[in-house]
Amino acid sequence: MSEKPMVLDRPRICKIIETEEETSDIKTLMFKDSYTSSSSPGQFVMIWIPGIDEVPMSVSYSDSTKCGVTVKKVGEATTKLHGMAGGDHIGVRGPYGRGFELKDGAALLVGGGTGLAPLMAVAGKLQQLSQKVNLVAGARSAKDLPFLNRMDSFPRHHLSLHFITEDGSLGERGLASDLALRILKKDESQNVYVCGPELMMFRIFQETEKCGSYIQASLERHMKCGVGLCGQCALDPRGSLVCRDGPVFSGTELRKMSDFGRFKREADGRKISIV
Ligand SMILES: Cc1cc2nc3c(=O)[nH]c(=O)nc-3n(C[C@H](O)[C@H](O)[C@H](O)COP(=O)(O)OP(=O)(O)OC[C@H]3O[C@@H](n4cnc5c(N)ncnc54)[C@H](O)[C@@H]3O)c2cc1C
Ligand code: FES
Repeated sequence: MSEKPMVLDRPRICKIIETEEETSDIKTLMFKDSYTSSSSPGQFVMIWIPGIDEVPMSVSYSDSTKCGVTVKKVGEATTKLHGMAGGDHIGVRGPYGRGFELKDGAALLVGGGTGLAPLMAVAGKLQQLSQKVNLVAGARSAKDLPFLNRMDSFPRHHLSLHFITEDGSLGERGLASDLALRILKKDESQNVYVCGPELMMFRIFQETEKCGSYIQASLERHMKCGVGLCGQCALDPRGSLVCRDGPVFSGTELRKMSDFGRFKREADGRKISIV
């Protein structure tokens, strides 16, 4: 019998307190929910939009008074979430999954687009622990980069911000993985936390394999139940499930995953190449 309180397995109806437009298609919804407020960085919640769908979202913000998810508009459920404002209600299940293990020592955080969502929560916690943080934030262009206001509010004595965009409109021109690897080359002892496009994470993982840095990556797969029942988010024949065993996996675990950086499953279960 599970020892988890039942309330975590049913959606709780939560009121949106405020929203913030991060970019033209990325929006943060802040709501009140004591369970999500006590989540650890990297965990996710299932957001229920009655009559439409229930979708997994990383917790991008949490303190004792409020919490938030940051949503990119890609389809029906996320478009509906974008139409919501303060005073509207959403259903929230969770928090679920295993988040990032916060390690002692300097940290290199690398995120692309909404992949920055769980890393914002990691950065917040590492700041409280007074640890030195290098944050690489990448996007196609400056107008696609979320969390600029939040990054601005981080105290700079512990956090160095590195922007990189594919068109060069903010920071360097190039890919987040290129910049991250350059920073890592200067100091291989940094603990690496990544979330974003899988090929970006795979490339950084391959390099950390060579230099021996400790890496943790947050993976995304199509989810239905979010709690290890349906098998939809299976990663490989060994049966690792993103919702139950992840979404965050260590380098040792990633090394054993035949699908990581190579395949993912569509909503109908078909396996497709991501290379
Ligand atoms: C652990 C985890 C954390 C996530 N965190 C965030 C986040 O912080 N911000 C954010 O914007 N998105 C996040 N996502 C992705 C988000 O769940 C999907 O974008 C969302 O479900 C799309 O729903 P839709 O109805 O708008 O689009 P759809 O029309 O259903 O699909 C559009 C795209 O989203 C993918 N997708 C659809 N449903 C799911 C699902 N249930 N699980 C995973 N992928 C799906 C589809 O393969 C397709 O590529 C996360 C996914 C996972 C697994
Ligand atoms: S989403 Fe059902 S097992 Fe992971």
